[in-house]
Amino acid sequence: MSEKREIVTIDGPSGVGKSTLSRKVAAALGYTYLDTGAMYRAVALFLQRLQIDLTDEQAVGSVLAGMDLQLFPAGQEDGDVGVVVNGQDVSSVIRTPEAGMLASLVSAIPAVRKRLTEMQQTLGQQGKIVAEGRDTGTVVFPDARWKFYLEADLEERARRRVAQLRSAGQEVDSQELLAMIAKRDRDDQERTLAPLQKADDALSIDTTSLDIDEVCTKMLEVIQAQRT
Ligand code: DC
Repeated sequence: MSEKREIVTIDGPSGVGKSTLSRKVAAALGYTYLDTGAMYRAVALFLQRLQIDLTDEQAVGSVLAGMDLQLFPAGQEDGDVGVVVNGQDVSSVIRTPEAGMLASLVSAIPAVRKRLTEMQQTLGQQGKIVAEGRDTGTVVFPDARWKFYLEADLEERARRRVAQLRSAGQEVDSQELLAMIAKRDRDDQERTLAPLQKADDALSIDTTSLDIDEVCTKMLEVIQAQRT
């Protein structure tokens, strides 16, 4: 059997608690948090701003070749990672529900997946990272030592996302957001390339009736038990 690497992967649909848990688990282990969704969001907005025809693979490919994407650790413990694309700070504009929908659309483009998967694998080369997304346990880091797949009821996920966006000062219609989340998850699950799915060797946790600290404790127990 091939050697497993010191990497934690946390995959699952939106609003399931991945970001908060990834940050907490990374802080507890002293690992780096890798937010792969932020990368898809940043690429999506970049392509939109340049008005690139998303069906034109060649145009998308040449934009990607000229794109410099940098990730920065969050300023505060509960903050999002910072993202700078070609010198422009897009950290907050990528966090809207619309940017999430666009990211989902763009994430099905083969050239985008290839480029971002390679970047993520380079960022994870030294190990000691907690990666979150849709395909981190299946495609990006299949040799990760600890893999988690989080799930929760759609209504609960929508409720959490509404609370998160409102606390960040964004106005949201909860019914509209629920419909957006349902569509995004369906599209992420049904795409051909690297769809959202549980890795065979991932541990599933249903977070519907658990609070963040309970899930975090559970994940750290699993990790610590296999650490020595
Ligand atoms: O985790 P997030 O909401 O920031 O992700 C935004 C979109 O990016 C998500 O709907 C699908 C895409 N994505 C992906 O395809 N693969 C990943 N590893 C992470 C995100």
